[in-house]
Amino acid sequence: MKLPASGRAAGKVILLGEHVVVYARPALAAGLARGLEVRVQRGEGPLELETDVPALAADARPVALVREAAGALGIAADGLRVVVRSDLPAGAGLGSSAALSVAVLRALAAAAGRHLVLADELALGRRLEAIFHGNPSGIDPAAAVLGGCFRFTRGEPPMVTPLRVSRPLPLVVAFSGRGRSTGAVVAGLRARWEGDRAVYERRFDEVAGLVAEGAAAVESGDVAGLGRAFDENQRLLEALGVSAPEVESLVATARSAGAFGAKLTGGGGGGAIIAVAPEPERVALALRKTGAQTMVALIGASEEEAA
Ligand code: PMV
Repeated sequence: MKLPASGRAAGKVILLGEHVVVYARPALAAGLARGLEVRVQRGEGPLELETDVPALAADARPVALVREAAGALGIAADGLRVVVRSDLPAGAGLGSSAALSVAVLRALAAAAGRHLVLADELALGRRLEAIFHGNPSGIDPAAAVLGGCFRFTRGEPPMVTPLRVSRPLPLVVAFSGRGRSTGAVVAGLRARWEGDRAVYERRFDEVAGLVAEGAAAVESGDVAGLGRAFDENQRLLEALGVSAPEVESLVATARSAGAFGAKLTGGGGGGAIIAVAPEPERVALALRKTGAQTMVALIGASEEEAA
């Protein structure tokens, strides 16, 4: 084993299509400059995990994830000490569990002197993310692996098409501070879908139409058009029952501060929102005044800034 070893993976925002992507509809996502770093060192005795993320420290699943990743790579987890450092808020919908999965895989593969090809990173990343929520589409590990902006459709293997961002997208991400469980929100939607498949399938198809419009807007640099797709997607996310009052209040604040459009991002039920805005700093300031944490990201530009 080559120790110490480390691995890094990106966080993500889903621009359009979260939840319907579980039901094989396409979605758009973008990797963030912020992410998560895992360092593997020699430890003593059973596997130890240390982290600066309070939600992960209090959770048994990250240890289970490291054990499963080590098993998949054919190495022993005991005798290792794993240190996780993250600049992503956990439970916000920014893909921290997938980033953890991919960063653990990369660090352990480096320790084992192995190079994982893209298809293995995607497949193993999805298998590990399933420890956090039951039936993941795989879009989060794809963003953690690839970064950039892409269209994704689940499958074995998934279909991933990078998008050409002709004009950087000024995005504001805001997080109310209340984390929530993606697994519970995904399971709730499944129960409602089972109760009335025709209605839900129609809504899923409507979102798929918006994803196509949003992809065209990204590629043609129509930032205002992307904003309209955000607003329409938010309306449908509310109809699917995966939104939450605090999300809707952040969305309303972003719109009144001049955003072209705003919506929840990721699992919903609380968590983060995204807005696309001509003056993102102004929108971020209005959101911070309500007590939210914010981040401004220029998607498609070489560097993203944190605010
Ligand atoms: O909350 P997050 O960052 O794990 O995003 C979940 C995205 C969903 O579409 C709701 C679930 C999935 O597996 O795609």
